[in-house]
Amino acid sequence: MRVVSVIGARPQFIKAVVVSRALRAMPGLREVVIHTGQHYDDNMSRIFFEELEIPEPDYHLGIGGGTHGQNTGRMLEAIERVLLEEKPDWVLVYGDTDSTLAGALAAAKLHIPVAHVEAGLRSFNRRMPEEINRVLTDHISDLLFAPTETAVQNLLREGISPDRIHLVGDVMYDAALYYGEKAEKHSQILKRLGLVPKGYILATVHRAENTDDPNRLRVILEALAEVHREVPVVLPVHPRTRKRVEEFGLSGFLGYLLTIDPVGYLDMVMLEKNAWRIATDSGGVQKEAFFYKVPCVTLRKETEWVELVELGWNRLWLLEDPGALRGLLLDNWSRVSTDFPYGTGNASVKIGELLTGVRLLSKGA
Ligand code: UD1
Ligand code: UDP
Repeated sequence: MRVVSVIGARPQFIKAVVVSRALRAMPGLREVVIHTGQHYDDNMSRIFFEELEIPEPDYHLGIGGGTHGQNTGRMLEAIERVLLEEKPDWVLVYGDTDSTLAGALAAAKLHIPVAHVEAGLRSFNRRMPEEINRVLTDHISDLLFAPTETAVQNLLREGISPDRIHLVGDVMYDAALYYGEKAEKHSQILKRLGLVPKGYILATVHRAENTDDPNRLRVILEALAEVHREVPVVLPVHPRTRKRVEEFGLSGFLGYLLTIDPVGYLDMVMLEKNAWRIATDSGGVQKEAFFYKVPCVTLRKETEWVELVELGWNRLWLLEDPGALRGLLLDNWSRVSTDFPYGTGNASVKIGELLTGVRLLSKGA
């Protein structure tokens, strides 16, 4: 059996590393990896392949830096060419980026079955490019790997046939388990930045809705700078955010924070584990905060990972009141639940089993 995996953006490298490992352990399965090039800076792409020992992609399309339409269109054409050559039995796509949609669409039009990792997430906000990518990808997928029960329910509500939906758990939890300890051993980031465990707040900001609007970006940076007066705020700056900050003349705000360039996954895990609080608009970082039991404020008015809010580990900052971030982050966090809705850490193996029909896990695992 031949599976073509399509990846291209930072969170996809991290998800793919655990799934690829599981796929390559399946008897008779050959995986071919396409990197679209959506993320291309060394610290947004290369570092993950080196540090996490992901096999080099078989195809690198070099398509990134354009508008959504340009990226998706060019990827669609280039992925189709590869699929015609490779003739895979399955195309595997991850998450909700432009690379996800391009991979799914290219395959569906060639009548190649599509499998979607992280299916069924919804923000119910169609202004987000990710929401469009998710909904369309789910509806043209043949196998939908849902990370949570909420995701399963979202898919059923949209009329997707139950026999295509599989609740497997969250592959990012698999990654957190695998790399959590490695990070402790290998990362020197706390020492390098002079940080004390539980003595700082980790923040990330990159969503289009937060970075493309100068007022909103200013409110976020101002609020973080305000918090930094009490507890140091470490901000690894996403390249999209760096560009917007410069374009909107907001660079001065970065001077009030402890800003760094994007870091590799092991350093990021170390920063997350040792943070006192996390403030982020990243989907992956919200969950990692939960995996490492760090209270998190989401810099958005909604989240796809609704369980985190329900369990008391995540609070939404609506941004209407810039001053509210401080209270949300610093106030009492004692009422949190111990429930864990993201599986048992074997989502990747389940995905391998469902794709091949070969059973490795014991019944009920
Ligand atoms: C993309 C995904 C988003 C995901 C995020 C993960 C879409 C629609 N969005 O957002 O869902 O959460 O990746 O990080 O696919 N840039 C660089 N160097 C890079 C990468 C990006 O300079 O290595 C800059 C370029 O100016 C680029 C801009 O960032 O045009 C936006 O990149 P893009 O991949 O389109 O979207 P992200 O904001 O990264
Ligand atoms: N991440 C990283 N280095 C950073 C920032 C994030 O390795 O400087 C990791 C983070 O630990 C998580 C993933 O990137 O696993 C999240 O990606 P991102 O926030 O870019 O996208 P999202 O999850 O919002 O789609």
